[in-house]
Amino acid sequence: MGSRFLALSGWVLIVALLLVGLSGETCNAKDDGTKCTSSCGNIHNISYPFRLQHDPTHCGDLLFTLSCENNSTLLVDLAPSGKYNVQAINYDNQTIRVVDPGLQNNNCSSMPQNFPPFLRLPYSAYNMSGYLLSTPVFYIKCSNPVNSSLYVDTAPCLNINASSLVQQKTYSYVKVGVMEVGDLNEGCSAEWLALALLSYSKGHNTSYESVHSALMYGFELGVYWPDEIPPICQGQWSTYHKCFPHTIPGT
Ligand SMILES: *[C@@H]1O[C@H](CO)[C@@H](O)[C@H](O)[C@H]1NC(C)=O
Ligand SMILES: *[C@@H]1O[C@H](CO)[C@@H](O)[C@H](O)[C@H]1NC(C)=O
Ligand SMILES: *[C@@H]1O[C@H](CO)[C@@H](O)[C@H](O)[C@H]1NC(C)=O
Ligand SMILES: *[C@@H]1O[C@H](CO)[C@@H](O)[C@H](O)[C@H]1NC(C)=O
Ligand SMILES: *[C@@H]1O[C@H](CO)[C@@H](O)[C@H](O)[C@H]1NC(C)=O
Ligand SMILES: *[C@@H]1O[C@H](CO)[C@@H](O)[C@H](O)[C@H]1NC(C)=O
Ligand SMILES: *[C@@H]1O[C@H](CO)[C@@H](O)[C@H](O)[C@H]1NC(C)=O
Ligand SMILES: *[C@@H]1O[C@H](CO)[C@@H](O)[C@H](O)[C@H]1NC(C)=O
Ligand SMILES: *[C@@H]1O[C@H](CO)[C@@H](O)[C@H](O)[C@H]1NC(C)=O
Repeated sequence: MGSRFLALSGWVLIVALLLVGLSGETCNAKDDGTKCTSSCGNIHNISYPFRLQHDPTHCGDLLFTLSCENNSTLLVDLAPSGKYNVQAINYDNQTIRVVDPGLQNNNCSSMPQNFPPFLRLPYSAYNMSGYLLSTPVFYIKCSNPVNSSLYVDTAPCLNINASSLVQQKTYSYVKVGVMEVGDLNEGCSAEWLALALLSYSKGHNTSYESVHSALMYGFELGVYWPDEIPPICQGQWSTYHKCFPHTIPGT
């Protein structure tokens, strides 16, 4: 009788401890993870699911780790594209605004150095309907001058001359907005692509300086919260046609 009672109370105790232990743990992890707030430079409200590299591991979600350099620059690693400077985090519409680190303020000769990260989950340059959140900016090199309302001359900011041995001058332009068939003139090739928050209408009169300042403002990436990441793509790169139907700019 006595030993049976002991055994029973032993079980109850173990079960009770397990329940307390488990619920205590999940509760704490959840509460702490969503309550941590960090700050870096101008970004004061870094909270769940985001976390800083050196925050305690229960803060935020590891997939959303950002790094703070020199106490002022918040970076998100979008490998293989590279690291980007974070300008803003918007928790309401779940976007972050990032700038390519190759771009320098007030120096329109500075170029973006990374190829845009179109899909690097949990970040995506597309919205849920498959549209780009930002506008593509194509860098174009031509062997002859082009007089087109679609092309914005990058001189004197960029002067991509051919090698000095072959004295052949090339002409450099940007085209703002998606490329359509026939947009690329003869003797021209698209050399690079960047993203910017620019509204664009055909024949719009703009300067490369203004395109450069738009690039400096950055572009937007949508953020999938931890429970929203499409399962088929979880933690993976570039399987985008399996995850989202969308059109690729330039094709
Ligand atoms: C910071 O972000 C959290 C999570 O979105 C929000 O609840 C809180 O109000 C924000 N605080 C400030 C000071 O913006
Ligand atoms: C931080 O400072 C170091 C040394 O001054 C510099 O090399 C590095 O590029 C800086 N990092 C950023 C992100 O500005
Ligand atoms: C980082 O910057 C904040 C705000 O500018 C300042 O309060 C803090 O002392 C700085 N930390 C270091 C290690 O420089
Ligand atoms: C998200 O919110 C920010 C700040 O209100 C706004 O500037 C941005 O255009 C919004 N982005 C989208 C895709 O709604
Ligand atoms: C502007 O950017 C170009 C290209 O990166 C660089 O060669 C040049 O030194 C920069 N000018 C200044 C004043 O920083
Ligand atoms: C995606 O962007 C397009 C074009 O800006 C817009 O019409 C559409 O409503 C957006 N979809 C979502 C889910 O936000
Ligand atoms: C470019 O074309 C427009 C009309 O299409 C014309 O008015 C202008 O003179 C041309 N500019 C040059 C430099 O040829
Ligand atoms: C490009 O060539 C033009 C004349 O052919 C020259 O004036 C200019 O300095 C060159 N630019 C560069 C970056 O080499
Ligand atoms: C474009 O804008 C510039 C400066 O704003 C002006 O000098 C030029 O005449 C404009 N060109 C056209 C075709 O409107």
